[in-house]
Amino acid sequence: MKRKIAIIGVGNMGGSIAKALAEKGYSLILANRSIEKLEKFKKYDQVEITDDNIKAAKEGDLVFIGVKPQQMEGLMEKIRDHLKKPVISMVNGESLGDLRSLLGHKEVARIMPNTPAAVGESMTAVAFGDDIKEEDRKDIEELLSAFGHYKEVDEENFPAFCALCGCMPAFLDIFIEGASDGGVLCGLKRQETYEFLAQTLKGVAVLLEESKKHPGVLKDEVCSPGGSTIRGVEKLEEGALRSIIAKAVIEAAKFS
Ligand SMILES: NC(=O)c1ccc[n+]([C@@H]2O[C@H](COP(=O)([O-])OP(=O)(O)OC[C@H]3O[C@@H](n4cnc5c(N)ncnc54)[C@H](OP(=O)(O)O)[C@@H]3O)[C@@H](O)[C@H]2O)c1
Repeated sequence: MKRKIAIIGVGNMGGSIAKALAEKGYSLILANRSIEKLEKFKKYDQVEITDDNIKAAKEGDLVFIGVKPQQMEGLMEKIRDHLKKPVISMVNGESLGDLRSLLGHKEVARIMPNTPAAVGESMTAVAFGDDIKEEDRKDIEELLSAFGHYKEVDEENFPAFCALCGCMPAFLDIFIEGASDGGVLCGLKRQETYEFLAQTLKGVAVLLEESKKHPGVLKDEVCSPGGSTIRGVEKLEEGALRSIIAKAVIEAAKFS
């Protein structure tokens, strides 16, 4: 793609997307309030960094917005008049209707990515405004593919998607911490537990996807009578792990 991509607000999420797109050679202009956060992007020839949002708004052909929800209104007040390009917002809770009013134009898409975007493995939801042109839509889809998988999701399901995929990396990180503690208690070195767990989680994900089996079936297949796995499963059930995870997703969705 020949077009220049702007990202305004390059924190955790905007930064993850910026990293993936920079690695793939896209031409970027990155704008952030504190320029120090952008230093790490200086190594990419085709990436420009700035603390001037208006410059990024003018120069980007497609513009991602990556600020926090409470920072959105202030930002838009300053750049609205210069932002005549299609906008892709990752801001949680801002609907397509909100974005149209904030921007004063209609070419908007809303996305909900997650942090594995940094390594090209995001699971991203996207909703396109009706006024997005076909050419822009194709380019946005190309960009979303450059940092992972994407799926069109009805706006009414964005809160549930946000809880399930936006918040899930943090929930799984907590799971990994607990599993690692268990491994260390059993005598493994801390660092090797992370290596073993990362590969195990990757393997489980690929197996689930490729086998198309129900997760309960995959679990049952490895629980031999009186064996170690079923003993561990008993402890997870004692702690009501499944119910706790469901409650965490429901609670997170209420605030998304
Ligand atoms: N984190 C996730 O997993 C995730 C997932 C999906 C969607 N999101 C959405 O992504 C957005 C950002 O979340 P985050 O976790 O990445 O937050 P974050 O790390 O705080 O990033 C926000 C960035 O915006 C910058 N910023 C704030 N006001 C600005 C302004 N007026 N001009 C230029 N830059 C400005 C901040 O810079 P300073 O540090 O200099 O203030 C910061 O680098 C949120 O709307 C969130 O809902 C996040």
